Order: sequence, then C-alpha cells, then structure tokens
Amino acid sequence: MARTIIEPFRIKSVEPIRQTTPEERAKLVAEAGYNLFQLHADDVMIDLLTDSGTGAMSAEQWAGVQRGNEAYAGSPSWFRFEGAVKALFPYKHVIPTHQGRAAEKILFTVLGGPDKIVPNNTHFDTTRANVEFTGAQAVDLLLPEGKDPALVAPFKGDMDVAALDRLLTEHGKAKVPVVFITVTNNSGGGQPVSLQNMRAVREVCTKHGVPLFFDACRFAENAWFIREREPGYADKDVKDIVREMAALADGMTMSAKKDGLANMGGWLALNDDDLALQCRNLLILTEGFPTYGGLSGRDLEAIAQGLEEVVHHDYLQYRIRSTGYLGDKLVASGVPIMRPVGGHAVYIDAKALLPHIPALEYPGQALAVALYVEGGIRSCEIGTVMFGQHPDGTETPAAMELVRLAIPRRVYTQSHVDYVVEVVQDVAARAKDLRGYRIAEAPPALRHFTARFAPL
Ligand code: F0G
Repeated sequence: MARTIIEPFRIKSVEPIRQTTPEERAKLVAEAGYNLFQLHADDVMIDLLTDSGTGAMSAEQWAGVQRGNEAYAGSPSWFRFEGAVKALFPYKHVIPTHQGRAAEKILFTVLGGPDKIVPNNTHFDTTRANVEFTGAQAVDLLLPEGKDPALVAPFKGDMDVAALDRLLTEHGKAKVPVVFITVTNNSGGGQPVSLQNMRAVREVCTKHGVPLFFDACRFAENAWFIREREPGYADKDVKDIVREMAALADGMTMSAKKDGLANMGGWLALNDDDLALQCRNLLILTEGFPTYGGLSGRDLEAIAQGLEEVVHHDYLQYRIRSTGYLGDKLVASGVPIMRPVGGHAVYIDAKALLPHIPALEYPGQALAVALYVEGGIRSCEIGTVMFGQHPDGTETPAAMELVRLAIPRRVYTQSHVDYVVEVVQDVAARAKDLRGYRIAEAPPALRHFTARFAPL
C-alpha cells in the first residue's frame, strides 16, 4: 500500500504564529485598505502570499551562511555559487543579482527599447513591467488550453509555437530581440512546460535567428513534472532533465528566492560574450562587482547549497505532493480551482466561485480579503487587480480571476494545510454573500501592491 509522503526533514527551529480573531482581522484589513500587501505579516496566521524568499533553509544552508566569505572580489563563496549554477545550467557567463527582477532589468535595458517585442508563454508581472518600462511590448503566447482553468492537461504552460512562428515571420529578429519561456508558468497557474514544447520553440527561434531565454524561477518543479508526465522521462534524474532544458536555451533569468531555496538572490546567465559584457557593465552600476553582484558571500553560499537540495527527488516528490494535497482536498469539497494543480501554488478560480461579482469589481480581491478575515490566511489576487491596468490608463478584465495560495518551501505542515482547507470551505459555503470592491486610490503601474480598496 502506498504510504503518506512525509515531509523529508525534521523541524529544528520554530517561529511562533500569533493567533488573531475574525473581529481583529476585519479591523486590520480595513486599515490596510483591503490590500493584503499592506498588512503587517505578524497579523497573518498562514502566509500564502508568495513562495518567493519565504522558504525555510536547511542546516547545511545555515552552515554555508557561517562559511560565507565576504571578499569584494573573487570570494570562494562566489566560485561555489558559480559552480552550483553551472552544474545545472552550463552557460558561459553567470551574473549574480539581488533577485530575479534585477536580472530582468539589466537584460531588458540592453535588449529592449521602443518598437521591440518580447514574446513569452506568460510574462510574470515584474517581467512585463521591465519589458514595458523600456518602451517595448510584452506579448503572451500561451496555448489556448492553458487559459481554461477547469481543463486537465499535463503541460498547460506550453507556448503556442504556431503563434510564435507567425509573430517572428511578421516582425523578424530586428524587432524581437529575445523569446522567453517561463518555467513553471506562474501567472498561468504554476503549470509546467514540456520538453517537447521547449524543443519546438527552440526550432522556431533558430529558424528566425532569435535567442531563447528561460525565466527559470521554478525550474526544478517544472523538471519534476516532466519526469512524472512526459513520456520517456520517468526514470531520468531531475538534474539531467534540468540540463536538457538548459541546453535548449541561450540564457536565463533566475530568482533564487524560489527554486534556489534561499531567502534572497538571483542571476542572469547566458552564452553570448558581447551581451554578457554589456550586462556586466550595467551590473556594476546598479548591483555590484561581478563576483558578488547584488549579494553577500553568505547569500551566495546559501544559494549554492539550495541548488543541490532542490533537485533531490525526495524533496521534489514531497514538494509537488504537498501542493497537490491542498488542491485535491479543495476539488473534493467542490471549490473551483485551476486544474491540474501547479507546482508551487493552488489557484482558486474566483470567477467560477463568485459569478455574481463582475470582473471590474474584483472577485479575486473579494475572495482574498474573505480568506484573511475568516482564517488569517493571506493569499494573492492574480486577476484584474494585477493585470487589468494598462500603461495608457485604461482598464479591462483579465483573462482569469485567480486567487493564489502559494506554498512556501519546507515551512508549513499538513495540519496547517488542513486548516487552510477548512477556512476555504467555510468561505465557499457563503460565497453568494460576498461583495465586490472598488479602487479608492491606485498608482499608475503595479497597482496591486499599493492600491487601496473600498467595499461595495
Ligand atoms: N519571474 C517569475 C516567474 C516570478 O514568479 C518572479 C517572482 C520573478 C520573475 C521575479 O523574481 O521576485 O526575485 O524579483 N515572483 C514572486 C511571486 C514575487 O510571488 O510569484 P524576484
């Protein structure tokens, strides 16, 4: 008989959770303008806002923190970091940054610009913002099946290769400086991309002479899904799958706050010497000297060790199963979620749960606030609040209204997750009583972080 998949670690250090009541939380969230990014984290009981930088480090990573060497140039911690990155992603140049968006900022400053176009399966919000900040256009080319939350398919992060070919035929390499694939596809539900799709995208890029880059934040989770779902990979080592992915691209941007199992860090890696030179020059302006970039020696050590741990099969089996456990329980209780369950998060389909709330009254925000008041759970709206605002000031509904329950790595236990399920069930049972919101105050871009809302 198949046994419960246990957390493949013991807990050695704990952080207390402050218990609050629904009445206290109703007051706290009103003071925060009904924006969960504006809460004090101490007022949150289960924090599923993001899986980014929120994981628990291992004893070996903390040992690495002690070993961190803080030399300005040529630190041994840098060489350990560079070696760990290249063991999985053997690109010629590795450029360390303080987090993923710093790598994006540097790369798109060099490659972007007015009348440029950057295709991606789906841009994450910082990636889109960094592309658009240069005046370039960010185009999402996800296959249509990736946009249907209820459809169960193995690789809903796959790019629409025919659409990419059309775009490159029309605009060519003069206008399209790079093609991106995001693994796993965070904004599209944490869904994986198949190796078959990566190969097809590679062929189209080669045909048009355009480089291919990965936004590789959750590369190990993507590789585990390939192992589980793609024919021919069931017996492969995840490390080899990652290397096979890496070999298809010319470079990558990375946030070590996800599959680096670290609390901070990132990098840009690439093969092109000239592009690397331009990127390093920018790195020195905004991040630091090329052997530490935006990081201290101790961060470099933590990431190097994290990269060894994240590809362990025991870890990935537990990681993907524990996310699936939450999703399966919600499906069993009739809560509509994005299917199949992604790697790092469960996405509740707020459009389906709250059909009476129109998109421009933000059903995802309404659900996220209700989960907080009911159970102290912090989630994240990924819908019209996040994607509905355009640079020209107009607003349109997003394709999906999702609420993301992102699971920090190695932090919460099964009983925490059981509690989350109970809270979601209670909110779902009174879904028809929830009301929408209007935006009372918002900045011109990235409004989901700071906007203030008012209940309708
Ligand atoms: N790309 C993807 C796919 C991401 O999910 C993120 C961050 C980034 C780039 C930027 O990396 O935060 O290190 O600058 N995602 C976090 C999230 C913030 O909550 O999904 P960063």
